[in-house]
Amino acid sequence: MHNFLENKREAEMTLQEVKSTGCYVQHQFLDEGHIDELKKFFQLPESRPGVVEFKKADIENSESEVLSDLFRDIEKIMKQIDKHLEFHKLWFQTTTSNSIHAFEAKASPFLPHIDTQRYTKAMVYLTDVNLESGPFTTSKQNPNDFEELRKQIFMKDPAALEYQSNQPEFDTSAVDFSPILGKRGMLVVFDTNTPHFAGKIEEGLRQILRFDYWSKKHILKN
Ligand SMILES: [Fe+2]
Repeated sequence: MHNFLENKREAEMTLQEVKSTGCYVQHQFLDEGHIDELKKFFQLPESRPGVVEFKKADIENSESEVLSDLFRDIEKIMKQIDKHLEFHKLWFQTTTSNSIHAFEAKASPFLPHIDTQRYTKAMVYLTDVNLESGPFTTSKQNPNDFEELRKQIFMKDPAALEYQSNQPEFDTSAVDFSPILGKRGMLVVFDTNTPHFAGKIEEGLRQILRFDYWSKKHILKN
């Protein structure tokens, strides 16, 4: 059995950082052997962009021990952050410079935004991230500070998937954003209520496992 969480103190720090800054990063969360096993398990052609979605039962019944042990530890992290967080989906996602983002027609993931439906996402990188490979970029602001704004926006436009800096109520001009860089194996946990954006890939590709969690108390319905 693999144990990806070094100790309990690490998990408690995760809780504090995600609550106060919307984001937590742990380098070398997975080692090279784990990454190779996961890549072999998912068996997608390296260069083809796309998403494969997994439900809870797919993960629990998977033949990859690394994946099921990883899921167990991600569950622990999420419950530490907020005991109401529940697993929503897992994406195995390959993105290249040619990928067209599914939401691009409605909203650009490349502009600072908050997601109108609130998630806590755990991204496990299977490729290195540098400035050319389109790093995830965030602003280290308290996600709860944006909850009222998110609700107002949703009431106005329930169909909005993301709410962006080019809309008048959402001013990010004075906000500092910094890209999250690291080697493959890195874990990034973030609350989508903290302003963030996706980086554009200049060359190469990005492969991540993205575990999405949400809480019933945050789900907005019209
Ligand atoms: Fe987003």
